Amino acid sequence: MGLIPDLVIEQVLSRTDILQTVGEYVTLKRTGNNYKGLCPFHGENSPSFFVHPSKGIFKCFGCGAGGNVVNFLMTIEGWNFPETVRHLADKFGIEIAEESDEEAEQSRRRREGKKLYLRIMTEARAFFEQTLEAEGGRAALHYLRERDIDAVTSQAFGLGYAPQGWQNLFEHLVALGHKGPVLERAGLVIANNKGGYYDRFRHRVVFPVVDIWGNTLAFGARALSSEEQAKYINSPETPFYKKGEQLYGLDQAKKGIQKAEFALLVEGNFDVISLHGQGLDMAIAPMGTALTDEQARLLARYTKRVVIAFDGDQAGQDATLRCMSVLERAQIETLVIQFDELDDPDSFIRRHGPKALHEKIADAVPLVAWALDRMLSPVEGASIERKLVALKEASELLADVHDTLSWEHYAQEISRRLAIEPRLLREYLKRPKANEEATRKAFVDAQRGAELENAEYGALVVLLDHPEWLEDFFRDELDKLLCSQELAEFLERAHNQYGQTQQLNGPMLLERIDNGPLRKTVERAMVESATLYAADKSLRWYQDCVRTLKKNWANRTLDHIMLELERVDFRAERARYEALNKQREQVNRFKTALDLEVKSAPS
Ligand code: CTP
Ligand code: MN
Repeated sequence: MGLIPDLVIEQVLSRTDILQTVGEYVTLKRTGNNYKGLCPFHGENSPSFFVHPSKGIFKCFGCGAGGNVVNFLMTIEGWNFPETVRHLADKFGIEIAEESDEEAEQSRRRREGKKLYLRIMTEARAFFEQTLEAEGGRAALHYLRERDIDAVTSQAFGLGYAPQGWQNLFEHLVALGHKGPVLERAGLVIANNKGGYYDRFRHRVVFPVVDIWGNTLAFGARALSSEEQAKYINSPETPFYKKGEQLYGLDQAKKGIQKAEFALLVEGNFDVISLHGQGLDMAIAPMGTALTDEQARLLARYTKRVVIAFDGDQAGQDATLRCMSVLERAQIETLVIQFDELDDPDSFIRRHGPKALHEKIADAVPLVAWALDRMLSPVEGASIERKLVALKEASELLADVHDTLSWEHYAQEISRRLAIEPRLLREYLKRPKANEEATRKAFVDAQRGAELENAEYGALVVLLDHPEWLEDFFRDELDKLLCSQELAEFLERAHNQYGQTQQLNGPMLLERIDNGPLRKTVERAMVESATLYAADKSLRWYQDCVRTLKKNWANRTLDHIMLELERVDFRAERARYEALNKQREQVNRFKTALDLEVKSAPS
């Protein structure tokens, strides 16, 4: 498309009726020469939004928004400047002259083609809508009611019914003067091998796909029962409809998105409709495709914040992950909510109500944190091989994080949770392939816990001498306090052995530790424990060690919580912020209790 000449912009501004245009979005009341109403750009209860028709401008004294009709449409619709001007020119019958004749002819033909296409789509949509209300649509209507879709919501989305039979729509559109080949190109009918046509959509609930201007571009059609082969049959792409450029429900959701200041991205068309019906009018869906860059850019005009609420199953989680780089490129901040395995937003809201979903949204976690947790938590304490696989995945994830601070934050998280030295991790993350071997070695070393903490060593010595205390040690989950995973595993073997034989077989135990630093340490501890003093003194020593282990654990945990707290935006992630603060209090109380214990202990 060529540039829009200034003259046209002037004409558009002078011929557009700002009162009529704004009036489509805001209920306006006359006051003197002006009009006022509730501002559509911020929530308010008493009107501070004014339109001055004679000057052609609007102004809100509440939020400061103001400008001419083009500014108004650009803000409320998220359109860019040329789009807005073209839209107004179209609407108010202003010819936009293109540069060359050839170009002009081309775009004229395209415009004509699109006009016809949109007319056909509108007529098809009306046909489906009427059929839903008619006798033949009873099954479809029943289906929608069963799924709790009320009439208002159904109408807002233009839901309809494509009847049983082969040529209902075809005959209807032919009677309106359209030709078979044109209808075929519009994707509504399919040519058979006898030179005739049959309807693409038969005996299905029909969902119009609408662009941001409110034009119907295509249809999705859902089977009424699960016996049908395909759950959905969709319009094919046409010169005027590219699937990856549209978001289902965006036209209906744009006001809700601006108000909520985020979009709720769900998987299914049905989720969108069901959520809108329950007042969550910021829901949209990518119509079964992986989110495209075009879709993300389109969305970014309306909001810089997306909450992904895909189905709870594995497929939904995988799809969530695939949105990451796309949304990152569009500079959209992304949060995630996770449902139970068998739930999707529709089933969740039907069972638990809208309030529960709002609460879930308030607790949404950043996508990267969600994804990292998903990768790392299954491998904490697992084998080196599994950790390496997780590390690889995690590093691919981090490659999409471009904000330096966030990158550092998540790198630290990985290093902590996989017990790998931060410096080495950083090297690995920059060049995963080349550093794989070095990382593997670092993992092995980290696992072997070259040096035990003093308190860990102390506890080991005493426990080797008093294996009967191992029972309580594991019952109280004291193994969780240890830094060395390998030591925890060793003690567990000792515990099992003692449980079976009522004694410790030192050589047997040594046999089963890899020949590394821990083995040397255990050998030393075995010798030392053989020279221990009386049981009461050992007990005191042991208790001291445990207390120190607890204290070290508490300090590590506090460090971690403080780090998290620094990163959390306490307004945006209120629930998380409060949860962390609560944890911090708990750990602090735990520490205080430990100190009191020491003070009250008899000397
Ligand atoms: N989809 C499709 N073709 C299919 C299945 C799905 O085009 N065979 C698209 C549809 O746009 C659908 C979306 O992918 O809305 C998500 O699929 P799904 O969750 O299966 O559909 P829902 O709309 O959620 O339908 P329902 O709630 O009835 O399962
Ligand atoms: Mn679904």
